[in-house]
Amino acid sequence: MVKFLIETELSGKTKVVILIGNPVEHSMSPKMHTTAFKEVGVNAIYVATKVEKNNLKTAVESIRALNFLGANVTIPHKVAVMKFVDEIEPIARDIGAVNTIVNKEGKLIATNTDGLGFMRSMKEAGVKLKGINAVMVGAGGVARAISFNLLHEINQLKITDIKKKVIDSLVSNLKQRFGNKVTSFNLNGKNLKTELEKADLLLNCTPIGMFPKNKETPVPKEFLRKDLTVFDAIYNPIETLLIKNAKQIGAKTIGGSKMFLYQGVEAFELWTEKKAPIKLMETIINENLIKK
Ligand SMILES: NC(=O)c1ccc[n+]([C@@H]2O[C@H](COP(=O)([O-])OP(=O)(O)OC[C@H]3O[C@@H](n4cnc5c(N)ncnc54)[C@H](OP(=O)(O)O)[C@@H]3O)[C@@H](O)[C@H]2O)c1
Repeated sequence: MVKFLIETELSGKTKVVILIGNPVEHSMSPKMHTTAFKEVGVNAIYVATKVEKNNLKTAVESIRALNFLGANVTIPHKVAVMKFVDEIEPIARDIGAVNTIVNKEGKLIATNTDGLGFMRSMKEAGVKLKGINAVMVGAGGVARAISFNLLHEINQLKITDIKKKVIDSLVSNLKQRFGNKVTSFNLNGKNLKTELEKADLLLNCTPIGMFPKNKETPVPKEFLRKDLTVFDAIYNPIETLLIKNAKQIGAKTIGGSKMFLYQGVEAFELWTEKKAPIKLMETIINENLIKK
């Protein structure tokens, strides 16, 4: 096990990064970032703070008032927090959600590193994105972060979800930027099968596969093929049923843990302006994820 915190020298110079969310008790980020700060010689700690909706503005203002390095923002505050920062990077504006805030000499600059994390995970896995066709199941928060980055590279993205309203909202936002590269379809077995037959990449952006739905998959095994690359945004468990099924067929698979790692790496580098210790951060994530 990687040693943690006890070795961090707390002093009057110790800086703070916070996680703003609710709930936050499950978060791996305090361990991952605090250990990483120590590794690169930054005197800082990362603390998860449970923030109720009516305290969000005060929590964000405290980043400036208490001279914190910055923050991560998670469910349920990723959208509402946008009202309380000073500047929003274009990518976070497009996605419509923020996961990282950097305190630049009192100015709170917000961005979203989730999509960048996804793109780095695909690059590392050697997935060719130029000119391919992808199917995305699930059109919520993570789908937004991924699609606004992915569409710069791929040829076609077809999106589905169990909620029509959610699909329509994402597709209409994406169309403004990427035009006819984006379409949607109603979710049923027949449509999913037909669309997957024409696809090179499947992206699971639903929570199906994550505890308590860890025995379920959003896409039946018989719809998978060896030449259909499968990405699953879920990172806990490390291997979802969808990933296991795709592996058995011999398809290339990418689980969400690398995306989680790289969204953290990107945020770390923004707060510290130093290269993140990627291997160490990955070890900590893997030690804390459910293996089965
Ligand atoms: N790897 C990473 O770094 C990372 C980052 C963020 C999130 N995630 C993971 O990604 C998953 C989705 O998170 P999110 O924040 O995007 O959630 P979200 O905003 O709730 O979006 C998920 C969408 O999928 C829909 N859905 C549920 N079951 C479905 C099914 N069988 N078929 C099609 N659509 C279905 C949901 O509908 P309902 O609301 O009706 O259920 C919802 O609209 C979670 O497991 C989360 O842990 C991973």
